[in-house]
Amino acid sequence: MNTQSDKLVYTIKQQLECEKLLGGKWLPKGNPRDIDIPANTNPQDSDTLNFMTPQAEEIMNKSQKLKKIAAEVSQCKACELHVNRTNVVPGEGNANARLVFVGEAPGQNEDEQGRPFVGRAGQLLENIIQAMGLKRTDVYICNILKCRPPGNRDPLIGEVEACKHFLYDQLNTLKPEIIVALGTHAAHNLLETKTPIGQLRGSTHIYHPEGLNEPIKLVATYHPAYLLRNYTKDARQKVWTDMQLVLKELNLPIPKKSS
Ligand code: URA
Repeated sequence: MNTQSDKLVYTIKQQLECEKLLGGKWLPKGNPRDIDIPANTNPQDSDTLNFMTPQAEEIMNKSQKLKKIAAEVSQCKACELHVNRTNVVPGEGNANARLVFVGEAPGQNEDEQGRPFVGRAGQLLENIIQAMGLKRTDVYICNILKCRPPGNRDPLIGEVEACKHFLYDQLNTLKPEIIVALGTHAAHNLLETKTPIGQLRGSTHIYHPEGLNEPIKLVATYHPAYLLRNYTKDARQKVWTDMQLVLKELNLPIPKKSS
C-alpha cells in the first residue's frame, strides 16, 4: 500500500475531499511521494472519500478555529469603531492558505458586506492574485482592523492595539508560509517601522511579533487603492516584482504577465 500510484490516488482523493470542504483549491504542501498514508487506508476503496484523512481533519480544525475567531470579532467592543460599524470584517479565504494578504482596514463596501476587499481595490487585488496563477479562494485575506474607521481615516494606535490579537489568532491558526502586507499602514503596523513603503517593498522580511507563535516571511507592497490612483507602468511593475518574489518564496511557478 505504498506504491507511487497508491500515493497518487490517495493525494487526489485528499484534494477532492479538501475542495469539497473548502469550496476552493487545495495547494498540496508536500510532494505526493513523501505523503504518509495511514495504515488502514485503501486508496482503491471509493469509501476512502467518506472518512477524514489527517490533512483534511487539520484543515477542518483550522476552519472551525477561524469561524470561532470571527464570532469573537463580531462581539468585540474593545474600541470606539464598534459604535458605527454595519458589519465586522474579520477576513475570509482558504483555511489551508499558504499565503495571507493583510490590508489596512475595511472601507465602505467592506463594512456593508462584512467581507474584505470587495470594492474597486478588491477587484484589483483579485486581478493581482489571478496574475499570480492563483484564485481568491486559494488565499486568505484580512485586515489589521476588523471594523471600518469613520470616513476611511487612518487607523489609530489604540485601535490597532485593541484589534491585533485577532490577527495573531488568525495567523497562529492559518500558519501561512508568507504574508503580503498591502500598503503603508499594513506594512508599518506589522513591521513596527516608519520606513517608507518604497524602501520596505522588494525584499522579504521576517515578521515575528510577541503574540505570534512562529515567525512568518513577509513581503510588503503598494496597496491596490494606491495603484488605482497611480496606475502607472512603473507602479504596476513594482507590485508584479513583489508578487514574483512571493511566488519564489512559495516555490510556485511564475506565470508570464500580459501587461
Ligand atoms: N482596503 C483595505 O485595506 N482593506 C479592505 O478590506 C478594503 C480596502
